[in-house]
Amino acid sequence: VTTVVTGIGRLVTHTARGELPGAWLVMDRGHVVEVGTGSAPAADRRIDVAGRCVVPGFVDSHTHLVFAGDRAAEFAARMAGAPYAAGGINTTIAATRAASNAELRTLAAARREEARRAGITTIEVKSGYGATVVDEARLVGLAAELTPDATFLGAHVVPAGVDADAYVELVCTDMLAAAAPLARWIDAFCEVGAFDADQCRAVLTAGRDAGLGMRLHANQLGPGPGVQLAVELGCASADHCTYLADDDVEALAAGPTVATFLPATDFSTRQPYPDARRVIDAGATVALATNCNPGSSYTTSMSFVIALAVRDLHMTAEEALRAATLGGGRSLQRDDVGWLGPGSRADLVVIDAPGYEHLVYRPGVPLIHDVIIGGAVDGHDTP
Ligand code: NIG
Repeated sequence: VTTVVTGIGRLVTHTARGELPGAWLVMDRGHVVEVGTGSAPAADRRIDVAGRCVVPGFVDSHTHLVFAGDRAAEFAARMAGAPYAAGGINTTIAATRAASNAELRTLAAARREEARRAGITTIEVKSGYGATVVDEARLVGLAAELTPDATFLGAHVVPAGVDADAYVELVCTDMLAAAAPLARWIDAFCEVGAFDADQCRAVLTAGRDAGLGMRLHANQLGPGPGVQLAVELGCASADHCTYLADDDVEALAAGPTVATFLPATDFSTRQPYPDARRVIDAGATVALATNCNPGSSYTTSMSFVIALAVRDLHMTAEEALRAATLGGGRSLQRDDVGWLGPGSRADLVVIDAPGYEHLVYRPGVPLIHDVIIGGAVDGHDTP
């Protein structure tokens, strides 16, 4: 069953063809087979988007969707002047351990659906709120029900009352053995109050030896060794990158590690915004992601993230859209998403505006009109 999307006022391809005005796009068996301008070819089914802008589906390369509990009070305290600290993660660990698989599955699926409605067609989901062998294995399993990009984040924080070195040893051995068969990625939180560089190196290399790709939470709450470590180990992505020294920028520009910015986190924790301009101008590949989690960034709105990236990270709208699509794909080492053309996945977002700049120009307005994942419109219509 072929489907043609017609009446596309502006089609952003992120290919050598650039942006096409007055365009159409043909999908078949979950993939794009053809794009063009002018009169559209015949197809089994036709969707007319009436002059709206169509962009590649958003690729959210950093989320923590599997959790229970609520930290609205912690957020309110922060808005009243309290600082964000990594220790808050333990509040969510307690609530998550107490929840059943069925409860967690319902909560995570609702958040995934919220993200889909926000235009997120590809998503990475981390564990990290279990912090025992049994709990991390079930959280990674629940994440893997939502996405092929499930990440084992046993090294999120040292759980209350546990010795740090003994915990790292557990993460690298029994916890990894239980989680690795269900995950694609391993991650760690390199930060004062979480894990130091040696501990993160031990965790990531153990994961690599178990066949997982590596990613790292780096330089979120202050300057530190995380970015350098991520580049040294060849991580797919260094995430946060809020506090960057000159050496960090040079390392990111010299290597393949993607710099992933999570500005909704800096918004929600009242941190300074990263100097994305410096990183982009140095030549590094950048991505944008929501970091949806209950502590530091409880949003699934990539539109909001794009607006922050333009307003406060001084990216152009074009750079921000590219980072939220193609950049996320690079960070997940996925070459089938983040662009639209023959061979790409048929993941697209129809924006209820003549151009994607409206995501920034009209902040907070729900402009995501239709979301097509693998050729299926709004999840109802699988060809
Ligand atoms: O990416 N930095 C570590 N993890 C999350 C925060 C998790 C939490 O506060 O519950 C983050 O910001």
